[in-house]
Amino acid sequence: MGESDVAFTLAEALPYVSRYIGKTIVVKLGGSALGNHDTTLEDVVICQRLGIRVVLVHGGGTAISGWLKRIGKQPQFVRGLRVTDDETMDLVIMTLAGQVNKQLVSEIQRHGGRAVGICGIDGAMLRARQLDPDLGRVGEVQAVDLEPLAALTSSGYIPVVAPIALGEDGRALNLNADTAAAELAAALRAEKAIFLTDVPGVLDADGRLISELSEGQTKALIAEKVISGGMIPKVEACLRALAGVKRSHIIDGRVAHALIGELFTDRGVGTMITRGQIGRLDEQGEEVRGGTGNATLARA
Ligand SMILES: Nc1ncnc2c1ncn2[C@@H]1O[C@H](COP(=O)(O)OP(=O)(O)O)[C@@H](O)[C@H]1O
Ligand SMILES: [Mg+2]
Repeated sequence: MGESDVAFTLAEALPYVSRYIGKTIVVKLGGSALGNHDTTLEDVVICQRLGIRVVLVHGGGTAISGWLKRIGKQPQFVRGLRVTDDETMDLVIMTLAGQVNKQLVSEIQRHGGRAVGICGIDGAMLRARQLDPDLGRVGEVQAVDLEPLAALTSSGYIPVVAPIALGEDGRALNLNADTAAAELAAALRAEKAIFLTDVPGVLDADGRLISELSEGQTKALIAEKVISGGMIPKVEACLRALAGVKRSHIIDGRVAHALIGELFTDRGVGTMITRGQIGRLDEQGEEVRGGTGNATLARA
C-alpha cells in the first residue's frame, strides 16, 4: 500500500471511527461463520483498541449437533422444530457456554484483546419464559439486566455472550442466538446490530443481494417464502433490535474483515434493515448532524 492509499483509507475511515468511539455495537457471530471467524475476532479487537464497545453474541448450532451425534442422541422434532429435552439442554450449556464460548474468548485474547465469556444466566442478565412446553427448554426473553454487560465493558472487557437464559423455575433455557443478540442490542440502545452469517445478506427470489430492506418489505419476503429457514429468526431479530437501534445489518462473515468494512467504509456490505425507507445516503447525512441524538439514546 502506497502512502496515498494509506491517506485515502484513513480519510475514509476517520469520520466513522469518531462516530463509533465510546458507542456500543452488538455483533452476532453465526454458527456457520464460526470456525471461519479469524478476521472477525481480529476486527473486534481493532474496535476495542479504538475505544468502541463491542458486545459479541454467538451461536453454535453446528457444534451442538456434532455433540448430539457423538453421544448418539437422535434429535426430536415437533412440527418441524427441534425439541430441547433436559439432557439436550445440559449439552447445550456445555457446548455453548463452555466449548464455543471459551474458544472465542481465548482467540480474542490471542489477538491481543480482553474478553470475558458469560451467558444470560450470569448476573441474571437474560430472564426468559418457556416458549412452548412441547419444544422443551427453549426460551423467550422476558427481561434484560444490562448491569453485567456494563460492568464488563466499563472495565475494558469484551463480553462474549452465549445464548442461554435463566428460566422462571431457575433452570436454563436455550435461546436463538439472533434473538438474544437483538434483545441485548435493543436494551443497550446500541449504535448498530450486526449479524454475521454465511451468505452475502438477504437474497431475493433470483438469489441477488438485497442491500436495503424496510420492515414492510421484510415481512412481505417472509410471507412470500423468499426468506426461509435460519434467515427468518435473523431478519426478525434485525427488526426487534430496531426497538432501540437505528440500523441492523446482515453481512457475510466469510468475507475477510467484513466487520471493519461495514463499520469504517462508505461501501455498504450485506443487507441493511431499517424501520422505513431510510437509505445509506441518509446514514451518511445523519453523521453530518453529529452525535447529540445518539448520545441521548445511548444513555437512555
Ligand atoms: N432469502 C434468503 N437470503 C439469504 N439466506 C437465506 C434466505 N432464506 C433462507 N436463507 C438461509 O438462511 C441461512 C442463514 O441462517 P443460519 O443458517 O441460521 O445462519 P447463522 O448460523 O448465521 O444463524 C443461509 O445460509 C440460507 O441458507
Ligand atoms: Mg441461525
